[in-house]
Amino acid sequence: MKNRADCRETDDGSYVITGGRPLYGEVEIMSAKNSLLPLIACSVMTEGEVFLSRCEPTSDAENMLGILRSLGGICRFENGGIYIDGRPISGCEVGCGPAGKLRSSVFILGPLIARLRRAEICYPGGCEIGPRPIDLHISGLRALGADVREDGGRVLCDGRNLRGGRVELPFPSVGATENLMMAAARAPGHTVILGAAAEPEIADLQNFINACGGKVRGAGSRRIEVDGVSSLHGASFDPSGDRIAAGTYLIAGAMCGGEVTVRGVDSSHLCRLTEKLRAAGARVTERTDGVTVSGDGELHSPGKVETGPYPGFPTDLQSPVTALCACAKGTSYIIENLFENRFRAAQQLIKMGADITVCGRAATVRGRRLYGADVKAEDLRGGAALVLAALEAEGRSVVSGLSHIRRGYYDFAGRLASLGADITVCNKIT
Ligand code: EPZ
Repeated sequence: MKNRADCRETDDGSYVITGGRPLYGEVEIMSAKNSLLPLIACSVMTEGEVFLSRCEPTSDAENMLGILRSLGGICRFENGGIYIDGRPISGCEVGCGPAGKLRSSVFILGPLIARLRRAEICYPGGCEIGPRPIDLHISGLRALGADVREDGGRVLCDGRNLRGGRVELPFPSVGATENLMMAAARAPGHTVILGAAAEPEIADLQNFINACGGKVRGAGSRRIEVDGVSSLHGASFDPSGDRIAAGTYLIAGAMCGGEVTVRGVDSSHLCRLTEKLRAAGARVTERTDGVTVSGDGELHSPGKVETGPYPGFPTDLQSPVTALCACAKGTSYIIENLFENRFRAAQQLIKMGADITVCGRAATVRGRRLYGADVKAEDLRGGAALVLAALEAEGRSVVSGLSHIRRGYYDFAGRLASLGADITVCNKIT
């Protein structure tokens, strides 16, 4: 009988982990968080019923649905997915509370302008991994004819003159690309987005918009073209599997030893990670719908890991790979090119015996034996990294700050326990 974590995770709870156990088993990967969030936003501009399959109630997904409801939309988790009816939507304001809970609240801008020609939202929140401005979203929407003003932390948009246009992104921002695709989808005329992001989640958004009657092409390249349509109907859609969640479980398997398989994810979305896992000495087998990693957990340094826009090494797996390097023999060099403050987990890993020196966007990691400690998650992927380190470390750890981890991993402890990890959830006794 496989273990199961003993109770539902809550934001103020903690994981109690005893490390040193190998992991064996399979994890079914669900729809990608970073696809679901823009797809939920995009449903604001559809006038019909939407069903997104293989969805789990992570707190980011729940908060995004809360924003949709505040605008008048109907939405709920059901039948293993998310049901949305955007037809009743009439509101065009998102307050600071809801907007401040997550980064993807900014994705509401494009769809609201496209459908209601007006939007007023507070600045988004999200993981504190850098300043995370939204200047590319704003300048891009202006290039499409929107009148956008910023006033005391709010963004006020008048989209009455929205029309197709040409936007050149100086950096392939994922969110700005997605916001502009959505605004352009119902803007009269032709739009070209140059310098676009090429992540798999962009292709999901293109395919969803087209399933709803839109005309978008070029996702996966740096040039996306959109012919605006007057309306979008609903659709059922199966987003890609979550490549970041899948990568997290694979890294856990490599660090702890054993054999871990992830299913329901396109292995081609994980190629940069599987290259590094092999370089570290793990055995990796790839199939079209999944990946298996196996080994004895005795890893050596994968050398240099440098993050970059897709198809580069994903920044969202940088913290988990830093945890792997912290216990792999030899010295590794991690370069974080996307965010200014994404080594926050390092200080917590050092409490576990890690030898990490951070200098700006670079971290030097010398592999060490890790020991259990009480550590605190301070962002989503950094929190996942602490859990992985605790699973590998000798002895007992307590990982607090679950509010960060629950944003992007549903039943994280339950899945790890089903692989044989000694992990339980302890909620604060109120
Ligand atoms: C998306 O964030 C993801 N979030 C992030 O995942 C991911 O790390 C990131 O893309 C990069 O892949 C969602 O999809 C909900 P960006 P986003 O715009 O859109 C700068 C996770 O852990 N920038 O590509 O915010 C920005 O500051 C999260 O799941 C501007 O300067 O990322 C950053 O340095 C974390 N101006 C860089 O671009 C802008 O207007 C990349 O940001 C927008 C971005």
